[in-house]
Amino acid sequence: MKGMIFSMKNNNYEVRKNFPKNFYWGGAVAANQCEGAYLEDGKQMSTADIKARGFFGGIKRDAEYYPTHKAIDFYHSYVEDLKLLGDAGFNIFRTSINWTRIYPTGEEDMPNESGLKFYDNMFKECIKNGMTVMVTISHYETPLALVEKYGGWYNRKYIDFYMKFVKTIVERYKGIVSYWLPFNEIGNVAVTPICWDAAAIHPDSENLLQKMYQAAHNQFVASALATKLIRETDPNALVGGMIAYKTVYPHTCNPVDVVACENEKRKEYFFSDVQVRGYYPSYIWKFFNDNNITIEMERGDEEIIRCHTLDFISFSYYRSRVASSEYVEPGEIDMNTIEGISNPYLPKTNWGWSIDPDGLMLALMDLYDRYQKPLFVSENGLGTIDKVEADGSINDDYRIEYMKLHIQAMKRAVEQGVDLFGYTMWGPIDIVSNGTGQMSKRYGIIYVDLDDDGNGTGKRIKKKSYDWYRKVIQSNGDNLD
Ligand code: BG6
Repeated sequence: MKGMIFSMKNNNYEVRKNFPKNFYWGGAVAANQCEGAYLEDGKQMSTADIKARGFFGGIKRDAEYYPTHKAIDFYHSYVEDLKLLGDAGFNIFRTSINWTRIYPTGEEDMPNESGLKFYDNMFKECIKNGMTVMVTISHYETPLALVEKYGGWYNRKYIDFYMKFVKTIVERYKGIVSYWLPFNEIGNVAVTPICWDAAAIHPDSENLLQKMYQAAHNQFVASALATKLIRETDPNALVGGMIAYKTVYPHTCNPVDVVACENEKRKEYFFSDVQVRGYYPSYIWKFFNDNNITIEMERGDEEIIRCHTLDFISFSYYRSRVASSEYVEPGEIDMNTIEGISNPYLPKTNWGWSIDPDGLMLALMDLYDRYQKPLFVSENGLGTIDKVEADGSINDDYRIEYMKLHIQAMKRAVEQGVDLFGYTMWGPIDIVSNGTGQMSKRYGIIYVDLDDDGNGTGKRIKKKSYDWYRKVIQSNGDNLD
């Protein structure tokens, strides 16, 4: 009724103004992008170790330089590095366990004790420095020997190899690792060229789409089995999904563009829909039909997926994108970007990624509305070039601004009732870029003196953002100035 004002007292409901008291603040890395020591103490090659530099590296056997081989040598410097992160007030650290340190070829019967010892010691340092440990079980580092013998994750044999690895690490790190993420950015199995990272599928493979979605199915089963095993082994640990979330906008308000946008969203939601709800969503069968995709399932798969869904959802958020019903000339392809249609309302990073804090708020709201599961932002940050001044300082005000806007966006989502329980910025110490293999694409609040060819002292230098983030953490996100 026009003019009538309804007033309702919020007797039992208080609007949350701040981040919850035990909010997690920290940083995230992937083993292959920081550890280096690629053949040390029994480790063998993974899919990451044959990626050269350049746009998604090119998977090569004869490159002159492979950035992951040395990376930032975290394998030898983790004591000092974790101390720096602890001093910044981090209460959580997310990393992955490099599969080939534990099972160098993936097929051994017994794990490599030296590899396990490395993670014993490293996790001990995390805890000593006040950080809860979150582990990504598989972050773009599949044993290369498996790939050579069996192809990619579309081969069902991977489920057993993976589960052997999972059993070893979950039993070993019970009571030490509090949060487990079975796969990094699982939806990337269906995205070229990242399908190599996510599912060891060469982007030039025949029947690519078929292979990608079969790999997705095998990872759904593997993830559900891992969840089951973690719950049985360590009932106090929680298991989360990890998706790459890019908020999608329609190119125009023409309904055909809105439909295109919804279709794009579904392609991304497919993965979390299966893992959170426990079954394949009805919309996917038409997509499979239209694309001649047949998923081979074994008896029992559906039940496994249904019975072992996730405790929480984590996601990476760097940027948003635009969907259109028709071909639109892509935005400027600058410095190895994978930007598609350009959004004229948003600024871009040096690598052409849109900067869109509102997109993060929308991501949180959409995911929470869809699933009502606790959320965790497991990656976010600005990858850009930093300059060391003559006096040795690094004044990365642009990074402070980026993080500030994104933390404010998270706060706005929390005010709207979203259950968000943590934030790990990406690459708190500069690491090798996954997409380009460059060191110069830096995300850190700690600078590492190495260039794109691996030259430099490797020295760590705190950037201006280091003290800023420390204050943010100290104030639980209240002080963003
Ligand atoms: C995420 C990956 O997609 O993006 C990380 O999980 C990656 O491994 C990060 O490093 C940032 O991408 P890039 O290409 O800038 O390293």
